[in-house]
Parts: sequence; structure tokens; C-alpha cells
Amino acid sequence: MAKSKKKYMEAVDRTRASRMKWWNEARFGMFVHWGLYSQVGRQEWVMNVESIPVKKYEKLADTWKPKPRPMRQWARLAKKAGMKYMVMTTKHHEGFCLWDTEQTDYNAAKHGPGRDLVREYVDACREFGLKVGFYYSLMDWHHPDGARCAKDPKARRRFIDFTHGCVRELMTNYGKIDILWHDVSWPLDSPEKWESVKMNTMVRQLQPHIIINDRSQLDEDFSTPEGQVDPSETGRGWEACMTFNDVSWGYMPSAAIDSHTARDILKMLFTAASNQGNLLLNIGPAPDGSVPEEAVEPLTTVGKWLHENGEAVYGKVDRARIGMAAGGASRKGRTVYFWCRCWPGDELVVGGLRGGRLKKASYLVSGKPIKFEQTKNRLVLKGLPKTNPDKIAGVCVIKLEFKSEPRQILSAGCLPN
Ligand code: GLC
Repeated sequence: MAKSKKKYMEAVDRTRASRMKWWNEARFGMFVHWGLYSQVGRQEWVMNVESIPVKKYEKLADTWKPKPRPMRQWARLAKKAGMKYMVMTTKHHEGFCLWDTEQTDYNAAKHGPGRDLVREYVDACREFGLKVGFYYSLMDWHHPDGARCAKDPKARRRFIDFTHGCVRELMTNYGKIDILWHDVSWPLDSPEKWESVKMNTMVRQLQPHIIINDRSQLDEDFSTPEGQVDPSETGRGWEACMTFNDVSWGYMPSAAIDSHTARDILKMLFTAASNQGNLLLNIGPAPDGSVPEEAVEPLTTVGKWLHENGEAVYGKVDRARIGMAAGGASRKGRTVYFWCRCWPGDELVVGGLRGGRLKKASYLVSGKPIKFEQTKNRLVLKGLPKTNPDKIAGVCVIKLEFKSEPRQILSAGCLPN
């Protein structure tokens, strides 16, 4: 008899803290959307949005000719950017499988690429020391039962067997997998219909250390706010997934003009670091697998910055509810890191600090001490330079070490948004 949902989730809850330790400290990962849609260059939803008939869309399977092992370029960039893990689309909504599967011929080994792209991806992650995540779309626009499974019980049976078969292969054939990232559970409207407990029990038997996201209609291990770095989730792991341009996950040349700068990315990372969350930032490689040009400079810059300021970002962080006019703070116990995006001038003032006498103030990067005065209600850092000393991205981190954990109590009761 299938394990009940309650019992299953209790078992998942019991092992979560140890399974998720690395993830809770990793903070920053690379999402990769790559598939047949990359050739069209008008979003990964193009098949649906432009109502392209299946037979016509299928032709893209044979014209897709990626260059050898482009994933090494992605993984090299991810590493350079200070990212700790990757998540790649093994099958997006279009239904094309990037691995050599026995469940369908509609796969990379049997068509244009002529090889197992998931294998190459896994190899690249391992070569560059990155944890390995698999994205898998439950929704499938290509499988003949992908839509009718909602109404026809026999079609549902076939489609669930196909889905579970795909997931089983992914969890069996590539060694240790660190993250399973399900997506869109249309058209079945309950975890019972997807047989999600059965599927994820199988996943956990095959990969006991894996962490699973919340998109198979079970809460599982972490939440996935999309398109906004939303820190409202508390008491549970959360990971904001973001495109590189607010337009498309898949390759789209014209979206490049809307792409994020290094400072935009640091802003997102700041919200994650100060609220115990992660940022999964996407790139949509070109059809041949090349990294989109617009991602290279911002990610490289963020990597340089993280190389020097990583202490304020990685590792076990606490929720920080401390701010000042020039930016906000991340916190680890009694140590507070102020991220100064807008330079305050020669003094930096923090109001309303309670319960924490300051022992030391210094620049995180140089370790150089900063003079300060602390009265009951105001902490004043003095003798700061005229302009922001961070020449990488204009975000200088000031480290404050308190004798005990500080709290901030302001007369308006809150900080500005
Ligand atoms: C949405 C979109 C999809 C994208 C995903 C990433 O669910 O349908 O295209 O892969 O978000 O989170």
C-alpha cells in the first residue's frame, strides 16, 4: 500500500536539516534553460504561445546541433561567479528529453545532438566542483497523454508510468544527484493523481541525500518564489529563481538589452543573504550551447566581489532586521555586515540598536578598523572616505562585531522599504 502523505512528509522532515545543510549555506546557484526552444529564440513557452503544431515543432529535434560539451563553459562561469550549484532543464514543457532515455525516442541521443546532454552536464558540474541539480517539467506538451491524462484514466496511467520512468532514469544513471527541481504540475490537480508520494519516495530511495523543491504538489524541502526575490517565507528553505532579463528563461537574443547588471544581481543576493534564502539565477544558452554574452561580464564581476566579500553571503546566516540609510545588513549571530550600496559620506549612522555593545567595526575586505561612537540610541562610524571604497561593484561591506546579538528598535517600528 502506498505510504500516506502525512507519514511520508514526517520522514522527509526528520532528515531535512542534515540533507539541506550545504544548500542553506550555498546561497547562489545557476539555473540553465536549454532545449529545442533555444533555436527559436522566443522564450521556452514558444510552442504553446504561438500554437506551433507538435509535428512542426518536432522538426527542431533534428536541426539542433550543439557544439561539443558547452556545459563546461557554463560550469566554469558559474564557478567564477561564486555559484555553488547548478540546475539544468533535463526536460522542459516541450517534452524533449536531453538524456538518452528509454521512455521516448524524442530525446537528444536519438536526434540532432546525437548524444546524452545530461551526462555531459553532470560531468561538467563535477569537473568544476558544483552540486548537480536536475529540473524536470511534469507538464509535457509533446507526450500524447500529457493533456488527456486529466480526463482519461488509461491515459493518466500511461503518462504517470512515463513520468515516473523518466525520473527513475535520471535518479539512477548519473551517480549522486543533489537537487530535483520539479516544475509545472498541469493538468493533474492533486498529488494523488500525480502519485507524487510514490514518485518522490522512489527518488529518495535512489538518492537518499537529495533535496526536492515544492512543485510536485507536495511541500517537500524548499519553496520556489519565481520572478521576485521574495523573503516572506520563514522557517523553511526558500530559493528565488530569476531570469537574467525579466523576459525569458530560454535563449532570446532581443532580451539581452533588459539583462541584469552586477549591482542588480548583488541586490538580489543581498535579499537572499539577509533572509536565509538562496538565489537561483538563470542563463539561457544559445542553441549551440554558448553562454549568452550579456551574462558574462555581470557574473564575472559578481564573482570578483564575492571572492572578497563572501563572508557576508555564504554560510549559516540569521535573519537580519537591521538597516541604515545607505543599505541593509546581513547577520551571523553577533556579527552584522552592512552592505553600503549608496555611500553615506564620512559618517555612517545606525539608529535604535539595542542589546549589543559594539566591540569592533572594520572594512570587511581590508580588515582596517573604523572609529566609532556608540550612545544609547545611535551608533556613529566615523572617518569614512568620501567615496565608496568598493571599486568592483560599488557595494562596500562594513563588518560590525558586537558583544551580544544586537536588535534594532526604531521609533516608527520599522525600516523603509
Ligand atoms: C515557470 C515557467 C517555466 C520556467 C519556470 C522556472 O514555471 O513555466 O518556463 O522553466 O517557471 O521556474
